[in-house]
Amino acid sequence: MPAVAPSEIQARILSPGADGIAAAADALAAGRLVAFPTETVYGLGADATNDRAIAELYAAKARPRFNPLICHLADAHAAAALGRMDDRAHQLADAFWPGPLTLVLPRTADCPVGRLATAGLDTIAVRVPAHPVARALLAAAGRPIAAPSANRSGSVSATTPKHVLADLGDRIAVVLAAGRVEIGLESTVVDLSGPTARLLRPGAVTRGEIERAIGRLAEADAVLRSPGQLSSHYAPSVPVRLNVRHVADGEALLTFGPDLRKGPHVLNLSEDGDLHEAAANLFAHLRALDRPDVAAIAVVEIPETGLGEAINDRLRRAAAPRGPA
Ligand code: TXA
Ligand code: MG
Repeated sequence: MPAVAPSEIQARILSPGADGIAAAADALAAGRLVAFPTETVYGLGADATNDRAIAELYAAKARPRFNPLICHLADAHAAAALGRMDDRAHQLADAFWPGPLTLVLPRTADCPVGRLATAGLDTIAVRVPAHPVARALLAAAGRPIAAPSANRSGSVSATTPKHVLADLGDRIAVVLAAGRVEIGLESTVVDLSGPTARLLRPGAVTRGEIERAIGRLAEADAVLRSPGQLSSHYAPSVPVRLNVRHVADGEALLTFGPDLRKGPHVLNLSEDGDLHEAAANLFAHLRALDRPDVAAIAVVEIPETGLGEAINDRLRRAAAPRGPA
């Protein structure tokens, strides 16, 4: 019997110096999968122009193929080669790129990204990340990198290299390890593919910040919404109960603000009631409380203002009825 079963083969964990970046770029060029940090969450990257790599990426995440990927680019010029940017798109790009904003645009006629990565849609999601490691990787790779969050599909997003390895360590070639990410919530997704700008996914850039740049955002109806946003998502393996005041026997507590309750299974998103700190802690705390000896995770009410909209979006999806596996 081989000493190491194929399922136990682990990713190479590289520090993101020049050698690590070069090795990661080579792996991408060879069609392999590379996990890398962005300012929002860790991404699971593949060469967006290589359909075989994209197929492998969907398989590694067990992601349904109807859920399209975000393409990461070095700058707005590179993004405009993939998606048609109108005035609104340029205004948002000027205001928020590089940074945690994703734009859904009509695909350009000669877009080099295959239809698999965009789930057959006539639109494409593009983003220019701000994290220096993501930027170095994009520069070295010289190609668009498709990157969903580096977690198993439907589960809690990865904000540390440890989370990435726990979910996907046996499926990826390289992990560029750069510690814990800064923001902890995914990018905001805005649909600019039609005349009305719509918020498909609340995220790290708040609704108010976007509306100050381009005016009022319409809501996405259920059909137009980001396909990945439709069902249960960001779900730990134990149930999640929201807006609780009283914690039941056996439940863990995820709290926020000045709350004196303490215990082995009590975590506070931010004792100071700071929504940025809460966003940064959200996924790590959900993972930490997701334990076999916990019956459910009880979560206190979180304010709906600013980043609270995105935090509550993720919590509602974590608590949503689970579909068939
Ligand atoms: O912060 C982020 O955006 C992270 C980092 C790695 O960049 N990425 C991320 O990717 O969150 P993912 O795959 O977990 O979420 C992408 C979201 C999904 O909800 C997907 O349905 C939506 O973007 N999306 C992608 N392409 C789309 C399109 N053409 N039309 C509508 N929604 C789209
Ligand atoms: Mg995700």
